[in-house]
Amino acid sequence: MPRLFLSPPDVGPRERELLLDAFDSNWIAPLGPHVDAFEREFASCVGLGHAAALSSGTAALHLALVLLGVQPGADVLVPSLTFAATANAVVYVGARPVFLDSERATWNVDPELVEEELATRFHEGREQPAALIGVDLYGQTASWDPILASCAAYGVPVIEDAAEALGATYRGRPAGSFGVLNVFSFNGNKIITTSGGGMLASDDERLVERARHLSTQAREPAPHYEHRDIGFNYRMSNLLAALGRAQLESLPAKVARRREINAAYRAAFAEVPGVGFLPNAPEGEPTNWLTVITLDDPTPVREHLESLDIEARPAWKPMHLQPAFAGCEMRGGAVAADVFRRGLCLPSGSAMTDADVDRVVSAVLESLRTRGS
Ligand SMILES: Cc1ncc(COP(=O)(O)O)c(C=O)c1O
Repeated sequence: MPRLFLSPPDVGPRERELLLDAFDSNWIAPLGPHVDAFEREFASCVGLGHAAALSSGTAALHLALVLLGVQPGADVLVPSLTFAATANAVVYVGARPVFLDSERATWNVDPELVEEELATRFHEGREQPAALIGVDLYGQTASWDPILASCAAYGVPVIEDAAEALGATYRGRPAGSFGVLNVFSFNGNKIITTSGGGMLASDDERLVERARHLSTQAREPAPHYEHRDIGFNYRMSNLLAALGRAQLESLPAKVARRREINAAYRAAFAEVPGVGFLPNAPEGEPTNWLTVITLDDPTPVREHLESLDIEARPAWKPMHLQPAFAGCEMRGGAVAADVFRRGLCLPSGSAMTDADVDRVVSAVLESLRTRGS
């Protein structure tokens, strides 16, 4: 049996065709017609005016903070339950992440904690955070309405980290359209991939133009190399943009397949005592990037799957429990810690066959039976 990976790339002849087109055109550079087209097509896919194609989602997060002018020493609110890249970007600009716990309903940042944090700062006359980065974890959007209302009331700009949520919606609006700046990832394990890559999208043309400028070493329009700003080498290659365009064409099919896989897992474990799921929030439709189940003790199940060459992973380890962020402030933490203790991500790639899903289900059930007997 071949190894079943958590979320491997799902590519086909169309990717090959566009990649070869880029190759044959000799636009083998971090600029070119596929980069321009990918940006246009992507922006329209998420319902925004503009997008800058970058080398990674992490680069997009970093640039978002730079574009908002977040200064060294400033506070930035970040959910504790996320991938490290979200919080790392805050440290890149010398700012301090202030971590917030998750809500049970979505596993995303708790809107009540956001309100509480901002209201407390206001009443105590303390400075407000320079930004909030909200994350749409595992392909499910955060509870954006109350989060945006609180942030607007206290003048805190919002960045949406939709790296895991391309194709999801919240009250009918696409994930990655709620922030003033919105971040996507095309890492090899994401819903669509360019092997590595990211996008920074916004309705604010000026910000996106500036992102393009900063991501290409902030080179001024002069015949010689003139620089007024410190720039970055963060632009996406034309070859990878070609791959991204082909992937984007099949986004609806890829999302539909991940939802089917999630539904199949839910049906298979519906009657199994002790197996729970990342809840589907009522306000939107997730992409189900990864299906996450909860168990009292996921370790033996994960080890059993591994022994059968099936990759499964614990849920994200919260940032407030990471040695790299020891000493950072944290509000609450019980929900994020509980998700980490009980969560197990199952193979969820859009190229999985029904037989692959059955293989995972049988292995999980077998492990639970063995432990129960
Ligand atoms: C929530 C989240 N934010 C940011 C990133 C960073 O994206 P990239 O790997 O493209 O840098 C990822 C994934 O890798 C992610 O899952």
